[in-house]
Amino acid sequence: MIADEEYGDTNDFAAVSAQDPTLAHLLRAEFRRQSTSLQLMAGENFASSAVMEALGSVLMNKYAEGRPGRRLHGGCEIVDEIELLAEQRATEVFGAEHANVQPYSGTSSVYAAYFSVLKPGDAVLAMSPAQGGHYTHGYSETIASRWFDFIEYGVNGDTGILDYDQIRDLARDKRPRAILCGANAYPRTIDYALFRQIAEEVHAYLIVDACPTAGLIAGGVVPNPVPYSDIVCVVTHKTLRGPRGGILLGRSYLADRLDDAVYPFSQGGPHMHSIAAKATALAEAATPQFAAYAFQTVANAQHLAAALINEGILLATGGTDTHQVIIDVTSLGISGLEARARCARSEIVLDACHLPHAPQRSIDAGTGIRLGTAAVTTQGMLEPQMENIASFIARALRDAEGRDTESLTNAVRSLVSQF
Ligand SMILES: Cc1ncc(COP(=O)(O)O)c(C=O)c1O
Repeated sequence: MIADEEYGDTNDFAAVSAQDPTLAHLLRAEFRRQSTSLQLMAGENFASSAVMEALGSVLMNKYAEGRPGRRLHGGCEIVDEIELLAEQRATEVFGAEHANVQPYSGTSSVYAAYFSVLKPGDAVLAMSPAQGGHYTHGYSETIASRWFDFIEYGVNGDTGILDYDQIRDLARDKRPRAILCGANAYPRTIDYALFRQIAEEVHAYLIVDACPTAGLIAGGVVPNPVPYSDIVCVVTHKTLRGPRGGILLGRSYLADRLDDAVYPFSQGGPHMHSIAAKATALAEAATPQFAAYAFQTVANAQHLAAALINEGILLATGGTDTHQVIIDVTSLGISGLEARARCARSEIVLDACHLPHAPQRSIDAGTGIRLGTAAVTTQGMLEPQMENIASFIARALRDAEGRDTESLTNAVRSLVSQF
């Protein structure tokens, strides 16, 4: 491990250092890792100092079970105002009738969405986790799949685009109580209007899991699912650039059911420090500067996708409409984990993932890598840097023996150090 003296002017974590040098050392190490390596994780970002200050505030000492104005805990007058402020900002940013800002995470918000309108045993039509859906969309090892009967849809085998004919046919045939759209690894925009039509035809609730693209929706650069859906789940820590946590958005006729599904059904006392930080992030997301950031995030992803294609790299769906770019590494004869490891040797940080319709043999180690431009765009990187990144990734992926590692690592560090 690198000695603390080598860290230079990083966060010094003075209070932690004074009582817990071991932990302080690890905090500095993580600070350095985040600030010197190339952060291409699709679900990560760099929150502002204001968000981090609110998150690390005295609010973390406060218990406030229940809803503003209706709590048994004492001393909640101020946190009530904070929660109402966060709710109001969430409804304004997303144009929603109702918001609940208490979910601890995206997973909690998706489960609460199910619990609000479904009974155990109800059928849900959702994107297969093997084709890009999130594990909360019916993966067998989750509470959701024990409680509800998931019917899976997927993407077209040739194009990688959602198979809307299959979705309509399954909905007509199975008559699910809810249709869920949204994905964990899918770089294209989703036709929410068409999903709405299908849901209405079969009298199903439409739940949208928009966790990954929340910031892009707030910035107006991808379509907003709120006008088309009954419930929308978002997280504040990915493209929205806030603290880790979820928000549930819904129609006013569902407000009480959504609130009850969060507390007391599936959560305890809300994390008021996180709710305050969500309020800060939502205020930031309402600014023209944030809209410009969201626009640049997608422009960067599209530029990166085009530059990777120029490098001869194969992309799932052939490109992107969002912040995500998904690379098919099967043509290079390696697994997703091997591809991730080759990039990691030169401090390029990204995820391995599974591609839809990938050969079964690669299932354990993945068949692709998934990257995102949200964090590097926050750092100020633009199209020219996307050209650099595409070339770094192509070099790393093709370097089986690691002969190029030293010079590539220097090039990566040199790029990141400028931001
Ligand atoms: C589509 C989708 N839903 C839900 C989640 C879960 O969010 P969290 O990790 O905050 O529980 C994610 C996170 O990756 C996601 O991509």
